[in-house]
Amino acid sequence: MILGIDLGTTYSVCSYIDENGEPQIITNMEGQRTTPSVVYFENESSVIVGQTAKENSICCPADVVSAIKNHMGEKDYQFVTSFGQSYTPEVISGLILRKMVTDANQFLGTETPLNRVVITIPAYFTDAERTATENAARIAGLELVRTINEPTAAALYYAVKSKLEHANILIYDLGGGTFDVTLIRVDGSEINVKSTKGIKNVGGRFFDEEIVAQIHDYIEDEYDVDLEDEEYLDVYQELFNRAEKAKISLCRQEKAIIPIRTGEFKESYTLTRADFEKIVAKLYKRTEYCVKSAIADAGITNADIDKVILVGGSSRIPYIEQQLTALLGIAPSHEVNPDEVVAMGAALFGKQLEAERAGSSDARTISDVCSHSIGVSALDELTLRKYNRILIKRNTTLPAVTCLPFRTASENQEKIELSVTEGEFKELCDVRIISETEIILPPNLPKGTRVEIELRLDTSQLVHLWLRIPAVNYETEFKFKRISNLSDQEIEKLTGLIADYDVS
Ligand SMILES: Nc1ncnc2c1ncn2[C@@H]1O[C@H](COP(=O)(O)OP(=O)(O)OP(=O)(O)O)[C@@H](O)[C@H]1O
Ligand SMILES: [Mg+2]
Repeated sequence: MILGIDLGTTYSVCSYIDENGEPQIITNMEGQRTTPSVVYFENESSVIVGQTAKENSICCPADVVSAIKNHMGEKDYQFVTSFGQSYTPEVISGLILRKMVTDANQFLGTETPLNRVVITIPAYFTDAERTATENAARIAGLELVRTINEPTAAALYYAVKSKLEHANILIYDLGGGTFDVTLIRVDGSEINVKSTKGIKNVGGRFFDEEIVAQIHDYIEDEYDVDLEDEEYLDVYQELFNRAEKAKISLCRQEKAIIPIRTGEFKESYTLTRADFEKIVAKLYKRTEYCVKSAIADAGITNADIDKVILVGGSSRIPYIEQQLTALLGIAPSHEVNPDEVVAMGAALFGKQLEAERAGSSDARTISDVCSHSIGVSALDELTLRKYNRILIKRNTTLPAVTCLPFRTASENQEKIELSVTEGEFKELCDVRIISETEIILPPNLPKGTRVEIELRLDTSQLVHLWLRIPAVNYETEFKFKRISNLSDQEIEKLTGLIADYDVS
């Protein structure tokens, strides 16, 4: 069996397929269906993941790391503990994955521990962020069967559950740290993503931060106390948990009281729903722009949308539902649990992959699109300046292939320099460089030999380079180094480093 893991910014969820072929959520060792994506480094070989780690952020903030997903794909980011050990985002995510799989095995009590997983990824993640997630799974010692975009996993679950035959579904996914909107067309057993758009570093944890910032300013004005000072660190850390609870309670209540206790004063801060909605409104406007753009990119209008599905804990905020209803003229459906649907979709996707492998005819076909354009750095013949030449446009159905033909400029040309880019703009400074590589050519090619470089985007939206030289019947995949990701050697070293860690 393949486990489905929703590796979230703030909470992670794991799902499996039960004996009736239905996806179910794993209850973790703490008895919860969701696990905070928080890691506490107890010492150099012992790590606690989840609720206890979240609680420890108050007493030992220097050794607790949260929301690491927002740093995936940042080559230079390291979390340094109080005992001087540093950890990359891949290792920290790997430790969360280890906890999820260990708890799943404990819960299921399987004789041979399960090790094969499908991991979900925000649709708007870049090549670097996707690669970092795959590397986290490798570091955790897991067999990553495939990744699937979070909204697509949600749509798969919904399509299977609702038995919808023909529909356009809009998935609005606002979680703890990412936002995606995806338009999906379901036709019988075919699930086709039509378009997707997103924003990074938005969501629930930023609402918590904003609430805490307001309280911080209020306390500073009233008491001339800076809660960010070392002496108030525990009060300050605890405020984040209180802000989150208050935010959640505002779904049902008009106001929430947040107590602040220090040695010097006791205060109660009142947060009204109207105050909170002001915080949400700023972000909502940005998501609304994405929704409109995704609908236009899918080539449909609001009237063509049959279902709106809310995914991610932050989509529970009533203001968001009201605004979306007003925008789209259709009320979102409440048929799925926004916290669990992605993990269940991932488990179902694992089941589909196994069915496909077994040649079963009930497998659904699922196609996704790329969320960012892929190109190369090219020379503008007129200005002689380098620019970003897009070769695969965003929202192209995956897998996608494009061919870049060259002629060798000299006898026995040894290499071709190539920069692979990701992004929508023409200026190279406005896009991401995935790789700056030298493609080594086989020896003794005559001048003017046709060389074809193929850029392939696989179904997980990862870039591959193929080199083809028809004249000498040469075709091989060219393995290139990604600027923002770990090398194979680094991954191997890190896998060894955490293999003996005690993760609970
Ligand atoms: N009723 C609610 N009202 C407001 N926010 C909520 C509610 N329930 C949960 N949240 C928030 O939703 C977020 C968690 O949602 P979810 O688990 O879907 O995100 P995630 O998977 O961790 O993040 P991402 O998908 O962005 O990586 C948290 O910030 C949590 O505080
Ligand atoms: Mg999520």
